[in-house]
Formats: sequence, C-alpha cells, structure tokens
Amino acid sequence: MESNGYQSGFGNEFATEVVAGTLPVGRNSPQRVAHGLYAEQLSGTAFTAPRSHNRRSWLYRMRPAAVHGSFQPFSQPRLHNDFDAGPVNPDQMRWDPLPMPAADARVDFVDGLFTMAGNGGPAAMTGIGVHLYAANASMDGRFFYDADAELLVVPQQGRLHIATELGVLDVEPQEIAVIPRGVRFRVELPDGAARGYVCENFGALLRLPDLGPIGSNGLANPRDFLTPNAACEDLEGDFELVAKFQGHLWRADIGHSPLDVVGWHGNYAPYKYDLRRFNTIGSISYDHPDPSIFLVLHSASDTPGTSNMDFAIFPPRWLVAQDTFRPPWFHRNIASEFMGLIHGAYDAKAEGFVPGGASLHNCMTGHGPDAATFDKASHADLSKPDVVQDTMAFMFEARAVIRPTRQAVEAGHRQRGYQDCWTGLGKHFKA
Ligand SMILES: [Fe+2]
Repeated sequence: MESNGYQSGFGNEFATEVVAGTLPVGRNSPQRVAHGLYAEQLSGTAFTAPRSHNRRSWLYRMRPAAVHGSFQPFSQPRLHNDFDAGPVNPDQMRWDPLPMPAADARVDFVDGLFTMAGNGGPAAMTGIGVHLYAANASMDGRFFYDADAELLVVPQQGRLHIATELGVLDVEPQEIAVIPRGVRFRVELPDGAARGYVCENFGALLRLPDLGPIGSNGLANPRDFLTPNAACEDLEGDFELVAKFQGHLWRADIGHSPLDVVGWHGNYAPYKYDLRRFNTIGSISYDHPDPSIFLVLHSASDTPGTSNMDFAIFPPRWLVAQDTFRPPWFHRNIASEFMGLIHGAYDAKAEGFVPGGASLHNCMTGHGPDAATFDKASHADLSKPDVVQDTMAFMFEARAVIRPTRQAVEAGHRQRGYQDCWTGLGKHFKA
C-alpha cells in the first residue's frame, strides 16, 4: 500500500479520502454512505472526555471491523505484560542491542518483539510496557492491532513502512511513529532488517506538554507532527488478524485486508515525528535544567504534573554553561528511567552504551556519568562552547518502577559488568 502523503499538526480534526465524495457532509452516519461503504466510529477516549482531550475518528470502509473469524490464542511468548514475576532488583542495568534474527529465520515485526520491562498493565489502563524488536521480514498476510495500548515506535536501524487503516507512515531511524490503541496495521521492512524500541502506553494518550514560560513555540512544535492521508487496499485472501488483548496475543482468520478505509475524518489517528526537528532548549548561564526540558510527548496520570510516562530525547545541542559540570549530573530520581540510544554516542557515557542498546535506572537507584566522562568534564576548558553532535538518545520515564522481565534480566545481551563504569570514581576529598 503506497503512501498518499501527510497532513500536518498534532491532534487536529483531519479529513481525508482516497475517492472523492467519500466523506459525508454535515453528518457522520448517513442512511447510505457514498460508494457503498460502511461508517464506523473508532473512539480513543471516553465519549464524555473534555473536548480538549476527546479523540475519535469516523472511518468509511469496505467492510466493518467486526468481520473476521473467532480469536484463538497466538503463541509469541517473548511478548507479554507479565511484570510481576518476583522481586525487582534495584541494580543499574544495561543491555547490548537485541541480536538480529538468524539469516535463515523469517521474523516479522510481531514475532520480533521482545518484552524488556514495564509496570501497571492493560487491565488497570495505567503504566507502560517496554519492548525491543529485531526483525528481518515484512508482515505477510498478517495484520496486527494492540487493544491494550497506544504504541510509540522508535526505530533504531532500518526503515519501517507501516500501512495502517488510516494511511501509511514511512519512518526511519531518528523518527518516531505513534499508532493509536486498536488501529490495525502491517509493518513492512524496506531495508530488509530492522531494530528498535516500542513503548506500549496503557495510560492516557500521549500529548504535547504545556510550555509554561517557554512560550508559544519550542520543544516539539505541533506542525512537525504528520498524520497520513487516507490510503487503502482492496484485497481478499486467507489472511490473519493478530490482536494483543489483556497482555496476550490472539489470532483470527480474516478473508480480506482490514486496511480498507477509503476515507476518514477525526482526531484519533496515527502520526509520526522527526526527532531532528526538536527545538532543544538549555541553559545560557550556569547549570543545566532538569531533563524535563527535553520532553517530546507525555502521558498524563491522575496526579497533576506527574506523568504516567514521559518520552524525552537527548539530541544534538550546544553546551555553553559557565562554572558548570556540563554532562548530565549524578542523580537519584523518584521516577524510573529506561533509556535507549538511536544514533551516535551518549554524552554521559564514554563507552558501553551503544546504538540499539538500553539501560534501566529505577526509582532512587544512583547513576550518572561514568568515571571517564566525569574526569574529562571536570577539567574541560569552559571558555569555549562544546557541541554535542551526531547523537540521539531517548528515555521512557515512568512514575512507577519499571520492572524488568525475567527474560531481560537473564538475557544473553545483558551487560553484567555495567556497574563497573562507576568504580573508578575515587575519593578526591581533602579537608
Ligand atoms: Fe537518569
């Protein structure tokens, strides 16, 4: 399915159709929809959510989403939401990239997902699931939807061609894609192999943060978010619909492509964003702000100012602060941090944190720059600005402890000597 381009803006009331005259005028559900289509509403918030938060779209499609066989359990044991498998170790943890599938194995996006960690779950509709994916094949005759969560997809290697019910997202590393809860899609791999990160957001829909005294512009600007124009395919065959529902996978036969939406309008839709467009803001005097200044999107919780999940990035930027330790400082936070590296090197670690890798620093676990970074930054010449370039790291930050799965703790790609990066931080104190 080819892309028909994009519409610009975050959470707008979009309207798009493949065939002229598809969208009804002045109503959503006419007695007979144009061109013999069915009307179907897809809601992403409670019907009675405040207007500023309310999300829904109207889809005009060849067959309703109800048309498919019955669901049976689908086995992909590496993907789950079982986050309560025993005590959580407060160690700092780090991982190498998830290994790519063997060349003779055919692994698509669904089969290539590997659950690393999470909290809460789909039953409570709060918390996050953190997954990695490593795949080498396009989904073929298979469609997927996640009833449990909105999906934030962060490619690290290889482009993704994501054909959804509402249109096509083409994303490459340093871009992100967000697929709303329930939207059906197929992932194709134009580069043959792909790796990246996925955050399942069980909580409130991701939205742009308020900017406070920053003003009306800055951080991620709304016009840089792109939502696809409608695109559809008219295909019949022996296909499979895979659903993630309450932490487990299910499959049903489906005799047609569910990507048959000829037109849609509304504000509940997939979107993408190029992280390289982020307007990065920092100190021009001393110290550096809390990392909330790097916030791209957040999922609010019931507690004002405390997110269910924050998605922050650490992009290229200038460091000019005077009498200041310029890299990230040592810290312990009430929030828990799962980090990944999309591109280049991260400025708080001299080595070991590589693109495709991940780290986890949970609530009140001490962490920060490694010994080599501390030594270098403590003796840097601050009369000149530093530029951090060729980098893109990110963080899924959660209010609740991010519990690693057993398979993540025991994984062969876990770096068991990670804590050693701080052992060189000796005592310099002299009274
Ligand atoms: Fe941190």
